[in-house]
Amino acid sequence: MTSFSLNGKAVETKSAADTPLLWVIRDELGFTGTKFGCGIGMCGACTVHLDGRAIRSCITPVASIAGGLVTTIEGLDADGAHPLQRAWIQSQVPQCGYCQSGQIMQAATLLQDFPDPSDEEITAVMTGNLCRCMTYVRIRKAIKMAARDMRSTEPKHE
Ligand code: FES
Ligand code: FES
Repeated sequence: MTSFSLNGKAVETKSAADTPLLWVIRDELGFTGTKFGCGIGMCGACTVHLDGRAIRSCITPVASIAGGLVTTIEGLDADGAHPLQRAWIQSQVPQCGYCQSGQIMQAATLLQDFPDPSDEEITAVMTGNLCRCMTYVRIRKAIKMAARDMRSTEPKHE
């Protein structure tokens, strides 16, 4: 039995210790926003957060995250209104959409580290998230839009 928090709720699974977290999230717990792409940690479609940082859930044994806080695209914002989600919609980023939850979860980690990311920083952090529809230009635009939005709403300290 492995217990952890998923999108703010305590969950547990009886899956074998080496079961990929992705299977547990999707098949057992029904959160299908996170996608399976390559299964070997090379495409980013399965990206979720563990304790607030992006991980590849397809290569993460569920037992290894016991007690952790897992967030999927469904839990990024209670109302689906995270600045990244708003920017993604405004910029009409998705084409088929398959890679996009992973892109957004990776971008959320990017903006934690780089509140005003340069093109180089975006490339460095996002390069492992592949998009077969080649939406990279719109992804970059939406990341910058979300970053501006987040900076403008930060509390100002005098
Ligand atoms: S499905 Fe996990 S990195 Fe591709
Ligand atoms: S939008 Fe189709 S794979 Fe990225």
